[in-house]
Amino acid sequence: MKTKEWAEHNPGGERRVIVTKELPGNRWLDILVGANCRVEVCTSTDILTKDQIKSAIGDRCDGCIGQLTEPWDGELFGALKSAGAKAYSNYAVGYNNVDVESATAHGIPVGNTPGVLTETTAEMAVALTFSAARRVVESDTYMRTGRYKGWLPSLFLGELLQGKIVGVIGAGRIGAAFARMMAEGHRMNVLYYDLYPSQALEEKIAAFNGFLNSLGEKPVTCRRAETVEDLLREADVVSLHTVLDDTTHHLINRERLGMMKEHAILVNTCRGPVIDEEALVAHCRKHPNFRAGLDVFEDEPAMKPGLNELDNVVIVPHIGSATVWTREGMGTLAAGNVAGILNGYPVWQEQDISPFLEGEPPKAAPSIVNAKELGLPVYTR
Ligand code: DGY
Repeated sequence: MKTKEWAEHNPGGERRVIVTKELPGNRWLDILVGANCRVEVCTSTDILTKDQIKSAIGDRCDGCIGQLTEPWDGELFGALKSAGAKAYSNYAVGYNNVDVESATAHGIPVGNTPGVLTETTAEMAVALTFSAARRVVESDTYMRTGRYKGWLPSLFLGELLQGKIVGVIGAGRIGAAFARMMAEGHRMNVLYYDLYPSQALEEKIAAFNGFLNSLGEKPVTCRRAETVEDLLREADVVSLHTVLDDTTHHLINRERLGMMKEHAILVNTCRGPVIDEEALVAHCRKHPNFRAGLDVFEDEPAMKPGLNELDNVVIVPHIGSATVWTREGMGTLAAGNVAGILNGYPVWQEQDISPFLEGEPPKAAPSIVNAKELGLPVYTR
């Protein structure tokens, strides 16, 4: 153990795995202990520096579970490789903090945690949408500061969303789940932008329209926009669900904000740098009826100057996946990735990861993003 801020579990384990933050639940630990690992967990809530991580890796380390707040670059994968490590897993579905190419060059499989965040993160996007539309945070502050003197016809007027257009940029798992919540739960019309048509989303909305039809109610629509700009011009709500890479960095910039409706709501639960945050601050200042709901920030944990002074912005600290079930599930999958690779198991290929969450898990690593590049074997039932 490196310092008093590292707790050790199963000291007799033959393999050494480091975990750079404490994780919720116990199943993740049981999985690692079951794979004969001595597990060292950093108990500090401080974000570790690269030097601290290198020192924790030390001379001998078989695997590691790291966090999205840590820059897993060539230097750290080099340190893992020199220490004899065979596996790394991010405790996140997103892995923009990981240099997967370097990991692959060092022969290290990289795991992530898909499938357990989908509905949870989509629910947070819904929560931010309605908080922004109905000015929940402003109203809460108004109450707490004793300013409420009685009901008034024009107090905190917001936006009715039913029947309007919800724009979804990135129609992967989370984006599609959000689109369905807003269409099926709230009868908004879906306009999505993605590089590829989402047949699954369109089919599900079509099936829902069959149900609406049986009730004699008006159907909702689901269309794919030709361009991001088309979507921004038409949508009343725009929710971002892309990965962060060179093509999506500052996807929402000053020019594109200028295309959005005066009363539009912009929601971001994916990655902060997808929005040019300085441009957003300027836009929200100039357009008080425009609203934003943000779970993620460009320079997290910092916010761009002025953001926290804006009444038309709802801000929460990257808690999109923060439910007990999801965070425990993420631990299970991250531990399953490391233990699976250390045990020499093949890699799970199915989208449905639920078999890992209860009972005896399959003898597979649940999600390894560079499995193909490393030529890892594939799990077959
Ligand atoms: C992720 O997993 O990528 C989220 O941002 C954190 O849960």
